[in-house]
Amino acid sequence: MARLSFSDYLDAVPKVELHLHIAGAIRPETLDELAVLNELRLPKPAAELYRFETFYDFLEILRLSALAMATPQDFARVAFECIEDLHRHGNTRHAEIFFNPHYATPTGIGYPELVDGLIEGLAKGERAYGVSSRLIACIDRSVCLPSEALQMLDWMAQHPRPEVVGIGLDGAERAGPPLVWVEAWRQAGRAGYRRTAHLCEDNQAPFEAPPAHFTHCRDALGCDRLDHGYGILADPLVVARARAEQVPFTMACWSGMPLNRAPRRQRIKAMREAGLNLVLGTDDPAIFGTTMGHSWRTVFADLGWGVEEARALSLSGVEASWLPEPRKAALRASFIEALDALERDLDPADRTLDLSVTRR
Ligand code: ADE
Ligand code: ZN
Repeated sequence: MARLSFSDYLDAVPKVELHLHIAGAIRPETLDELAVLNELRLPKPAAELYRFETFYDFLEILRLSALAMATPQDFARVAFECIEDLHRHGNTRHAEIFFNPHYATPTGIGYPELVDGLIEGLAKGERAYGVSSRLIACIDRSVCLPSEALQMLDWMAQHPRPEVVGIGLDGAERAGPPLVWVEAWRQAGRAGYRRTAHLCEDNQAPFEAPPAHFTHCRDALGCDRLDHGYGILADPLVVARARAEQVPFTMACWSGMPLNRAPRRQRIKAMREAGLNLVLGTDDPAIFGTTMGHSWRTVFADLGWGVEEARALSLSGVEASWLPEPRKAALRASFIEALDALERDLDPADRTLDLSVTRR
């Protein structure tokens, strides 16, 4: 029987995606089509728009792209295509996806319509590909006020959907450090929502995103998962606490900013070597030009990781998910079975990556 190459093995490893923004996952051709349908003027075709220089340019493009989704059908289409891409490029089996309800305000679509559109697309994706998913309602702190976070919680209370399991915080950390959001995050906790936040991302200066934000996110916001977190490496006491608590960090393996890419991978390496609990994700796959498979291959090739790391990172995604325990147990069992079979099929002479990372 033909044995699996390490590259094919890595693509087939079952994965959980916990760090993906729906507005950053719109295929360029879909964005062009939706922009025409909804009379949104894009300054350039999406493929060109998705090339940018800075983090702040990226955030502008993300918010502009989000405006192309103006009807429930648009949200359903983008959600379905997102699941299709996760399935096809890297065998993601479960995803927890950020959506920013406030991005849609100028289009006139309301919270229940947009969330039901997303749910419809995700359900279609699950029927087609067996990929399960949940939603995380997110606040962009560069453009939202704390009162708007409370408004989002009101919408969620008026239109509860079991698929929406938590809240998140994105945008530029310098525009709204964690303590600004305490009231909303506490209210979300009382309402039974899980909580996360982007922190210590490598596009912020250390004084804008200091390691103390870890403490604020854990103790004041009640986050049980965190996104990025590279900057905590500057403080050994924070690293020691994160290791002791094993709080999951969802990594974005492929930064949108070329200059961040190699240094970020070194930080991911250092975080794993420090014993932190990591989950690998894509962040904004369409805008950044990556896929789950490509992101994993890039990190594994660059850091020389092998089967042991693939197994650990595959299973850490299951444990860090916000699925209820019975669903998590079933996912865990299916992952272990798949990993055992893949490891049996892997060519013993090919245990590290023969690199073709340009293949998305
Ligand atoms: N929104 C989408 N991707 C983001 C990122 N990497 N950082 C902050 N906000 C974001
Ligand atoms: Zn993100």
